Amino acid sequence: MDVDSQKVEKLRNGIIPIYEPGLENIVAENSKLDNLHFTDDADEAVAFADIIFIAVGTPPDEDGSADLKYVLAVARDVGRRMEVRKTVITKSTVPVGTSDKVKAAIVEELTTRNKDLIIDVASNPEFLKEGAAVNDFMKPDRIVVGTDSDHVRKQMTELYAPFNRNSDRMIFMDIRAAELTKYAANAMLATKISFMNEIAILAEELGADVEQVRHGIGSDPRIGYQFIYPGIGYGGSCFPKDVQALQRTGGEHGLPMRILDAVEQVNAKQKLHLVNRVNQHYQGDIKGKTFALWGLSFKPKTDDMREAPSRQIMEALWEAGAKVQAYDPEAMEEVERIYGQHPGLLLTGTRDAALTGADALIICTEWQHFRAANFDALAETLSDKVIFDGRNMYEPSRVEAAGLTYYAIGRGESLRRSLLDSTSTKG
Ligand code: UDX
Repeated sequence: MDVDSQKVEKLRNGIIPIYEPGLENIVAENSKLDNLHFTDDADEAVAFADIIFIAVGTPPDEDGSADLKYVLAVARDVGRRMEVRKTVITKSTVPVGTSDKVKAAIVEELTTRNKDLIIDVASNPEFLKEGAAVNDFMKPDRIVVGTDSDHVRKQMTELYAPFNRNSDRMIFMDIRAAELTKYAANAMLATKISFMNEIAILAEELGADVEQVRHGIGSDPRIGYQFIYPGIGYGGSCFPKDVQALQRTGGEHGLPMRILDAVEQVNAKQKLHLVNRVNQHYQGDIKGKTFALWGLSFKPKTDDMREAPSRQIMEALWEAGAKVQAYDPEAMEEVERIYGQHPGLLLTGTRDAALTGADALIICTEWQHFRAANFDALAETLSDKVIFDGRNMYEPSRVEAAGLTYYAIGRGESLRRSLLDSTSTKG
């Protein structure tokens, strides 16, 4: 059920409003099997279901806390309509204490209607990643359920049984612990990334190669290889919003979240690090330059542009009077929706078309097919023979062997060569 009837109509016709690998097939298959229906009619949805998941957005409001108006509107919609016992589960990422508010809102509506019905609430946070959502859901690391009801425990165990076959992934806990688990997980991952970004910048100063450091530390299972890739900062719909919401929650309880304050500051700085290198290379003068830009979405395999570092990079380039020719395999429509017909932006149909007439290349997203690049051809095409790579896609020596200057993130030794290069060409 969604209040957006246009979206519902599209889904009924098998059109998925976002790009997410594998989703279209699942929707098509289950619609065909009559397992899946879409509606914009709340009466129909509430009457139909024993278990209702609330999976609406919780955008940050002005002060950074999660805005619960959509979550609580669903709770009220349920309370106004339910005629028998129901279980209402919050899937949206919500601050600790929200399930109590959901329950209170439903009970209030029931009381107004003089109904005395049992209502169970639970928290079941979602840990899927965009671009890998289907697989993450089908083969979860863990299924966290916060509940104080045995009835819900049984329902959830049965509901998730198909995804819980090989080993038990269910983790039952208190409602508040489940709500906090989601924020703590995202904040920890964002912390890993910001930490590594800070180490990368230090590596640049020290002449060390952060990619070697990454290998060196990731091999310790206590640290692990995941989420220690330095880059141009984390984006997306979750990390920035959830870090802010947790900072806010801490603040409200007189506990400033000092680590998260730093995580956010480092990330904000990191998003502009590559542009600073561009400016340094061109000694502050990029007016009239044309930059090819590969990758726009906040990460590969999604068309999501929310908090994408590419936006800040493009905006800074435009501000300085440069032009951008950009290509992304999935996010072009979204970029058009955001920027319209921007005079500084040309969207091209292929990655190679973005290079035509460009002075330099900037890489913002590590889409797989950017990996196999022909450096000799790039050196031919880019008139200033320089690549600014925000995702450490290439081995510096290979790029440099083609006569290109290569800036990546945290690759100190190669950076030193690049800077030497840029001063020698500029005299
Ligand atoms: C995240 C969580 O991973 C997921 O568990 C939660 O449910 C939702 O939020 P998502 O936002 O889809 O998922 O993307 P994720 O793969 O976590 O990447 C987030 C951002 O971090 C991206 O901008 C990515 O480029 C960046 N990142 C990730 C790094 O810069 N370095 C890394 O090592 C990993």
